[in-house]
Amino acid sequence: MVTLEIRPDKHFLVREAVEEDLLAVMNINRICLPENYSYGFFETILHSYPKSFLVAEVEGRIAGYIMCRIERILSKFQRFRITKAGHVISIAVLPEYRRLGIASALLKNAMKILREVYDCSEVFLEVRVSNTPAINLYEKLGFMKVDRIKRYYIDGEDAYLMARELPFPE
Ligand code: ACO
Ligand code: ZN
Repeated sequence: MVTLEIRPDKHFLVREAVEEDLLAVMNINRICLPENYSYGFFETILHSYPKSFLVAEVEGRIAGYIMCRIERILSKFQRFRITKAGHVISIAVLPEYRRLGIASALLKNAMKILREVYDCSEVFLEVRVSNTPAINLYEKLGFMKVDRIKRYYIDGEDAYLMARELPFPE
């Protein structure tokens, strides 16, 4: 789908996930995040929104993933307007592949698909208020903090609701 360079001798590929990737995706999710889900949940997301469930592959190994759900929400940017939005449910990259631009590539590609395939005019997500790496990534890609959700996580931590508009393709 999209090949990007890490070093001149090393590349990663961003492509749509298939069912055979789900165990690797679940493994990355368990290593990287306290919010874990059942196989059935991953499978339902993959079957429902297959075009915006992406994996990054480095030398045949799954190094990261992003999965999204399409929702009708009250717009975060236009008052009193119901809009179709992409909800980034989860994104993660294995520790040994971080700071190489993989999450940026996953999120940029997912946003393009949310706009062009699923006709979303916005994208949003929740992130722990302490998760500086992820917040920096989202801000770098144009997301803004639009709300703070008290005790969003089971351990009592708050979440920032972050969102950005998705411009129509040229
Ligand atoms: N410290 C500060 N800023 C960071 C860090 C860090 N450790 N990591 C990434 N960033 C910011 C930087 O601005 C970076 O740009 P730069 O490298 O040019 O400075 C930018 O994000 C893009 O970095 P990428 O290389 O594209 O991100 P990476 O592939 O390393 O993945 C991620 C980032 C997904 C947050 C990774 O650290 C991870 O898997 N963390 C654990 C899981 C997690 O927190 N996921 C997000 C939860 S919220 C949700 O899923 C909706
Ligand atoms: Zn199936």
